[in-house]
Amino acid sequence: LLLLLSLALLAPSLSAKKCVLTGRWTNDLGSNMTIGAVNDKGEFTGSYHTAVTATTNEIKLSPLHGAQHDTNQKDHPTFGFTVNWSFSDAITVFTGQCFVTKGGKEVLKTMWLLRSRVDGINDDWKATRVGINVFTRLRTPRE
Ligand code: BTN
Repeated sequence: LLLLLSLALLAPSLSAKKCVLTGRWTNDLGSNMTIGAVNDKGEFTGSYHTAVTATTNEIKLSPLHGAQHDTNQKDHPTFGFTVNWSFSDAITVFTGQCFVTKGGKEVLKTMWLLRSRVDGINDDWKATRVGINVFTRLRTPRE
């Protein structure tokens, strides 16, 4: 009976898939990003290729820097990252949480603020856009 009880208690935690930020992701706009290894402080770097831009500039791969909350949050970590756009004067900050769907697929639910540069304080009111993006993992055909 004790054995059955312990198995019943352990089973959900054994089957729960952990959400891992490292890897390649795509979002609902068709943008792609790659997140590198998360270090022991929860920090990570990566690169972002946006599918869209608020400018007329040619889109270029841009660096990202972020942090995941500490590992006390076992399986659905919160995180944030900044993309410092290399082809515009703008910065975007993303904040979100990594979830695993019932079907076992990882999904990053995020909100973002995009700050574009304006010429002066009188234009400050129109400098910040806000939105949401949902990211799913990009896999190579062999995976
Ligand atoms: C710019 O237009 O100045 C830089 C590119 C901004 C792209 C934004 S960031 C939020 C949203 N999500 C994306 O994947 N791309 C857009």
